[in-house]
Amino acid sequence: MRFARSSRAMQIGVCLAGLVPATGMAVDPPTKAPNFGTVANTRHNLTQSFLGTGAGWMSLSRNDYGEVCVYCHTPHAASGRTQAPLWNRTQRETTYTTYDALGTTSLSQAVSQPGANSLTCLSCHDGTTAIDSVINMPGPRRYDAGQETGQSNSFLDSWSPGPGDTPFGGHGSLDNSPSGLSQFGACQSCHSINGDQHDPSTMAAFDIFNIATDLRNDHPVGVRFPTDNPDYRSGTTDRGAVRFFDGDGDARPDPDEVRFYDTGDGFEVECASCHDPHGVPSDGAGSTFNPAFLRVANSESNLCLSCHVK
Ligand code: HEC
Ligand code: HEC
Ligand code: HEC
Ligand code: HEC
Ligand code: HEC
Repeated sequence: MRFARSSRAMQIGVCLAGLVPATGMAVDPPTKAPNFGTVANTRHNLTQSFLGTGAGWMSLSRNDYGEVCVYCHTPHAASGRTQAPLWNRTQRETTYTTYDALGTTSLSQAVSQPGANSLTCLSCHDGTTAIDSVINMPGPRRYDAGQETGQSNSFLDSWSPGPGDTPFGGHGSLDNSPSGLSQFGACQSCHSINGDQHDPSTMAAFDIFNIATDLRNDHPVGVRFPTDNPDYRSGTTDRGAVRFFDGDGDARPDPDEVRFYDTGDGFEVECASCHDPHGVPSDGAGSTFNPAFLRVANSESNLCLSCHVK
């Protein structure tokens, strides 16, 4: 259940745990990710090493590269998509159904296809590409340029586990199609309330994580920020292609500062406007990260109020 992801809600989840079952409503177990200090302590550590031996389960469904950053970045031979830093992931040429397709009349700005700072996230979260589908796997001669735009299962299956790794080959697929789910490897065969292996007492359901390619029910991305509109607060400072709310006045877009990205259509809201995929400390270095990788915790709707005057 979605609210189990935030620490406050987690406590509520724990309190309610004994009360819920008969209704058929499943409450996720509290996250095992410690959520402080480093991305390695978050769910974005796709080695899941924070689980200890429990991480072995995941080797049924994705390559364990034994490195945290490599699922997203590579020091060499990165993707040609230079707006995403040293990007190592497969990005398909997907066309998304955008928010404006909803036909809302109150939107004042045009909505374009998601920009680079959303496509990075969508390369996992639209559920069409396996989470271990990278261009350059660790180690020599494990590079495939074709991986930039398409997922080659034979390339990914050529990964051989290192010493001490579990003996399972085979990457996962978050493809929600019947064929994707019929693979034992699919994350959602376990991590879904409808998953055939799902045990709600130990496994988190990732249904909301798979936000798919229809973005009509998600906050608009690829949407230009209205200027001179009293309903909106504009960023204070520009640095290159980023406009941000410079809370501490250091003229740098810090992780806890909400921002807009200009990838050619003017400054727009993208996934990374609100989220930092590495985690943002809630109260200075070493403190627990804001829930859901948010740049600003949304308590009292503070995140929303950064931009909306409401
Ligand atoms: C065979 C079933 C199975 C599959 C398939 C599976 N998992 Fe898991 N996953 C588990 C179990 C069981 C746990 C809890 C392990 C524990 O408690 O140590 C878990 C825990 C996790 C956690 C930690 C959740 C938390 O916050 O505590 C993450 C993240 C995770 N899995 C990611 C994935 C990803 C990504 C995939 C697909 C590549 C995947 N899993 C596929 C069974 C599975
Ligand atoms: C789950 C994917 C993911 C993982 C894992 C990840 N990153 Fe990133 N990283 C991103 C994305 C996406 C961006 C671009 C954010 C944006 O659009 O502004 C980024 C940006 C960066 C940047 C540019 C500055 C910034 O913070 O925006 C650096 C440096 C960086 N990552 C380093 C790392 C290192 C080092 C690791 C491993 C310890 C790591 N990242 C792990 C996704 C990831
Ligand atoms: C390499 C694949 C990958 C990339 C790239 C990626 N994610 Fe994730 N993300 C995951 C997995 C796997 C999970 C765990 C599933 C879950 O929590 O539902 C996750 C979880 C999350 C969560 C839930 C966190 C929590 O504590 O429950 C949020 C929010 C999120 N990602 C946002 C983003 C955003 C925003 C970006 C881009 C800046 C991004 N992700 C990039 C794979 C990825
Ligand atoms: C306007 C700010 C904003 C933008 C833009 C945004 N998100 Fe989020 N996102 C949030 C907030 C706030 C939450 C926490 C919701 C909650 O606690 O249930 C969240 C939660 C999530 C989650 C966890 C699932 C959930 O609903 O709790 C995922 C995954 C996620 N976002 C991915 C993305 C991706 C991918 C994009 C870009 C397509 C994106 N977000 C764009 C604000 C935003
Ligand atoms: C980074 C700035 C930013 C943040 C943070 C933000 N929004 Fe928005 N929001 C926008 C922009 C820009 C639009 C599109 C405005 C337009 O086209 O008129 C928008 C549109 C919307 C719309 C759609 C309005 C319509 O006419 O269909 C809603 C609803 C909304 N936001 C709610 C929220 C909520 C709730 C939050 C907090 C979870 C939030 N926003 C956080 C910038 C932001």
